[in-house]
Amino acid sequence: MYKFNPIITAACLAGLVAAATPVWETLPATPTLPGNPAGSKTEINGVQIWHAEFGTASADTVPVLFLHGGFGNADYWGDVIATISKTRQVIAMDNRGHGRSTMDSTPFTYELYASDAAGLLESLGIAKAAWVGWSDMGAGTLAALMSSDNSTLIDRAFVYGGFHSFSSTNSSFESTAIYTEFTTRAIAEYQTLQPDGDLTAFATAVSTLEATLPIWEEADFKKVTLGSKVTICGGQYEEAVVLYEPTLLNGWIAGSQLVMMTNVSHFAPVQDPVQFAEKVEAFLKA
Ligand SMILES: *[C@@H]1O[C@H](CO)[C@@H](O)[C@H](O)[C@H]1NC(C)=O
Ligand SMILES: *[C@@H]1O[C@H](CO)[C@@H](O)[C@H](O)[C@H]1NC(C)=O
Ligand SMILES: *[C@@H]1O[C@H](CO)[C@@H](O)[C@H](O)[C@H]1NC(C)=O
Repeated sequence: MYKFNPIITAACLAGLVAAATPVWETLPATPTLPGNPAGSKTEINGVQIWHAEFGTASADTVPVLFLHGGFGNADYWGDVIATISKTRQVIAMDNRGHGRSTMDSTPFTYELYASDAAGLLESLGIAKAAWVGWSDMGAGTLAALMSSDNSTLIDRAFVYGGFHSFSSTNSSFESTAIYTEFTTRAIAEYQTLQPDGDLTAFATAVSTLEATLPIWEEADFKKVTLGSKVTICGGQYEEAVVLYEPTLLNGWIAGSQLVMMTNVSHFAPVQDPVQFAEKVEAFLKA
């Protein structure tokens, strides 16, 4: 006779749920940075920029600078940094206004984000780093590559989920479940990391940026001169940025490399940190 087995039933149900929701439609829990460091704040361009350092500096390799996306914070890199920091010095920062970093009334631009990242490296006495930028800081990294001042601090650059224009946003993104989940989570994380922050001012600054900038065209990318040291990376199931964007950027940046990740969306660093770290390792060795 059939006998109900709660353990097997629960396992089967978990399997069904896992099968029903592919990883690229999930937003795994935000990791913590290795060792959950207190980090420190440095005044850069009139605001307090938070950063933390991992791994050990070496004379043979450049440090790796991890730059998170809009409404996020450095913690999203936790699992990727756990791997990369085994062999490299790693720096993670919170963008102005985001996470533990402060903001002022200056409107956000991708050039200002780039200048903040370059300013942090300069303040740390780091001449050049490998920049890994995701989403808004994919665009921020592109801004740094185009800047005659800031590009001197870039040894090589890895751009994930980056874009040349605000109009590269996928028009269906805001109606996806993951968008709602990320937005809700980002608000809660902001309030935890920055209990005295002005959520309305912050959200307005980021939303205005994302709705109006960047407005780069093909000709602007002629200023990028690092060639094969630039990797443009995209996710197979990217839902925030139009799917053709990585190919377009790769075509516009002379000599750049195009790398795709399988079974991930815009949120690859938390969906598949193992694959993400593998791609970053390959980029660092190339
Ligand atoms: C980054 O670029 C901005 C704009 O050109 C410049 O004001 C700033 O000094 C640069 N920072 C560094 C560290 O190169
Ligand atoms: C927008 O994202 C959806 C998945 O959410 C995808 O099916 C569609 O092809 C994307 N559109 C473009 C233009 O990339
Ligand atoms: C991608 O996900 C599908 C469905 O979950 C799975 O069958 C496939 O093996 C995965 N592919 C890779 C390369 O991980």
